Amino acid sequence: MAEVIIVPRSAEGGNLVASEIARRIRATPDLVLGLATGSTPLPVYEALRPALAEVDVSGVRGFALDEYVGLDPAHPQSYRSVIAREVVEPLGLDPARIRVPDGRLDGIAHAGEVYEAAIMDAGGIALQILGIGTDGHIGFNEPGSSFASRTRVKTLTEQTRADNARFFASPDEVPMHCITQGLGTILEAGQLVLLAFGRSKAAALAAAVEGPVSASVPGSAIQLHPHVTVVVDEDAAAELTRADYYRYAYANKPTWQGL
Ligand code: F6R
Repeated sequence: MAEVIIVPRSAEGGNLVASEIARRIRATPDLVLGLATGSTPLPVYEALRPALAEVDVSGVRGFALDEYVGLDPAHPQSYRSVIAREVVEPLGLDPARIRVPDGRLDGIAHAGEVYEAAIMDAGGIALQILGIGTDGHIGFNEPGSSFASRTRVKTLTEQTRADNARFFASPDEVPMHCITQGLGTILEAGQLVLLAFGRSKAAALAAAVEGPVSASVPGSAIQLHPHVTVVVDEDAAAELTRADYYRYAYANKPTWQGL
């Protein structure tokens, strides 16, 4: 079962996850991180700045979860740009060690295989940060995605395009296609850290954590992983039926156990 940690606000969640990542990097300087984009992981990236101030991050490697297809990599909302702006530059990571799937049309047919090979060459992702979409997606694995899927091109749902329209000048500008790590890829990471903040995530989060394991709720794939930490605020936790147990378990968490 996933460990579910309910925090008062997203900032506390960010601090918690950032201190664990800093601990892991101190122990393993070439740690391989899986990096989510969107609004949810921003408190983690903000908290990582002070948490990593005294830590040598020159060896840290990273793989983004996904990228829009056909969007100019230089566009400010391409995930290549977002990862550079929100993660690589503020944390002082080596840009050569941080990869984002290649969403350019030229070569898109093989971009998934190339990305999978790069993850394998790095020895796999040690800690994967995840957000969840209001339709239950993780990465951009929309409902119906195979649990065995690998990095590939997907069509975004209208709901996801509408949710992400806030990042673009108009809803029509949100790309129709993306390239995303598959659920099978995500499930191979050593540890999954799924974050969710805000009431709009409550139904999807409860379905992912407590609902039946189903391709109709891609986030429910996390129930198949042996090491999952779910960090949510009170609003995102609103529809969890076992919230009292999660609070009780966290209050009595063994001191020797990391996240
Ligand atoms: C982003 C990603 C998506 C987002 C999800 C939530 O790399 O893979 O699964 O995590 O769409 O987006 P936000 O955090 O903007 O609500």
